Amino acid sequence: MADHWVENHKRDSWRKQAKASGYRARSAFKLKQIQQRFNLVREGDFVLDVGCHPGGWAQVAVELVGQDGKVVGVDLQPCAPVEGAILLTGDITDPLTQERILEELGGDPLNVIVSDISPHITGKWDMDQSVAMTLVADVFDFALPLLKKGGGFTTKLFQGIGVEELIAAVRPHFSSVRRYSPDASRNSSSEVYLVCRHHTPWKAPKLSVRERYETAVNKLVGGEEIEEDPEPVASSFRVRRKKTDDGLEEH
Ligand SMILES: C[S@@+](CC[C@H](N)C(=O)[O-])C[C@H]1O[C@@H](n2cnc3c(N)ncnc32)[C@H](O)[C@@H]1O
Repeated sequence: MADHWVENHKRDSWRKQAKASGYRARSAFKLKQIQQRFNLVREGDFVLDVGCHPGGWAQVAVELVGQDGKVVGVDLQPCAPVEGAILLTGDITDPLTQERILEELGGDPLNVIVSDISPHITGKWDMDQSVAMTLVADVFDFALPLLKKGGGFTTKLFQGIGVEELIAAVRPHFSSVRRYSPDASRNSSSEVYLVCRHHTPWKAPKLSVRERYETAVNKLVGGEEIEEDPEPVASSFRVRRKKTDDGLEEH
């Protein structure tokens, strides 16, 4: 009961701060805290914001890059404009959306990729976890070739099956890969951010992140056989989202 109270109190406090600061979502503070800790984004940087709706991270990214930088965001849901950012609507895994992102970048490489992507949740936790991990792997495979040498990448992950394998698949691409839980993340959530710094493209393995991730997960679960109608197994994967009275979205 007490934990629940503390958690609600914290959430309300971040929401109030978001509203007072003009951010669209409490999640803006997660990126601000990642930035404070890791100094990922610099003035003049080109940033890709993956899963940008409703625009909290895009607002923060625009502040960080300043006049000389560029922020391109993408989300399945249309996002109200954020001054200084180009926000596209589409699926990041769709080649047409990817083409539009490349057009907006006009051949310029990215300094940083920030991804807060969360797939639609069905409530079948193991399946949700697997979809979420695969989506993150796909984001890496699309965005890594656009990232400058030395660039940074942060992405949300959900603690659960496959996380260690995904991190192992990403590790060769950066000289530093760290897990970080911003204070603004909910206590109850299993979300954690992976903060990858100093992109090392010359060390990139031949196989994609997704291929290496899937190979490792298949080994973990004992081969590629698919069980028919498996019993649902509880995992720690949890995402809760709700609209609030104050107009801010819960992210
Ligand atoms: C937690 S929200 C992002 C909140 C955002 N960072 C902010 O501060 O406003 C996660 C977003 O990921 C988006 N998303 C999920 N799957 C996607 C996909 N395949 N392509 C693009 N966006 C996706 C969802 O539509 C959702 O808006």
